Amino acid sequence: MAASRLRSDRLPRHVAIIMDGNGRWAERRGRSRNEGHHAGLEALRAVVRAAHELGIEVLTLYAFSSENWNRPRSEVDELMRLLVHYLRTEVDEVHRNGIRIRMIGRSDRLPEEARRLAEAAVDRTRDNREMTLCFAVSYGGRQEIVDAARALLRAAEHGEIDPERLDEKTFAGSLYAPDLPDPDLLIRTGAELRVSNFLLWQIAYTELYATDVMWPDFRKGHLVEALLDYQRRERRFGLTGAQVRSGAAERG
Ligand code: FPP
Repeated sequence: MAASRLRSDRLPRHVAIIMDGNGRWAERRGRSRNEGHHAGLEALRAVVRAAHELGIEVLTLYAFSSENWNRPRSEVDELMRLLVHYLRTEVDEVHRNGIRIRMIGRSDRLPEEARRLAEAAVDRTRDNREMTLCFAVSYGGRQEIVDAARALLRAAEHGEIDPERLDEKTFAGSLYAPDLPDPDLLIRTGAELRVSNFLLWQIAYTELYATDVMWPDFRKGHLVEALLDYQRRERRFGLTGAQVRSGAAERG
């Protein structure tokens, strides 16, 4: 299997995924968009298992964007039901596998039950260390940056930080999950080439991978393909290739 070609010493620590294409997958089969989301949940389950088996440290999944609130009410309701269903039925297995659940986004907009279950899942799995599974729900990248700016302005107002000393590290410390590393690899399914307001701050140097596979069809083999592609790349972080290969960055 292709997974055996993966180099375990060059795995991305953090993989983020834009799970796109549920609607088109369903429409092509003459089924409803909501059926597409149901099939998308199957893919989500399979990919969480696969990421864990492959030794990924952090997996962030874009489950519901702040813009998704503007979809037809019936679709929003169904996505919220799916979130509740997932949190009710999957957290036992996730917890057994030592996986820690995190949530990023504006949880205050979620229905009461979803919010309660999400908080309970985060709480219950807090000490797990095998993998971190981070759900971006009611999440927008610009919103996250605005929320961080607001927190910093308040801190400055109270004299807790000096605006002159604000730097990237301090700013990043006010984002939703400051303890997680930036994504090394961002995968987008569904044949579109857009970032769609996802992790805007964190993806400054992230490797991008797009595939035509619609999210409901995405499985471990596709994840392995993306990881193999990642391992063929040279990450330069603004340096020249020669500098990277000679290890100049580490020596300073
Ligand atoms: C994009 O497909 C996908 C979403 C908006 C939601 C992702 C949801 C799941 C994977 C199901 C599990 C859900 C939760 C909340 C745990 P799209 O509808 O934009 O597809 P399209 O671009 O083909 O219309």
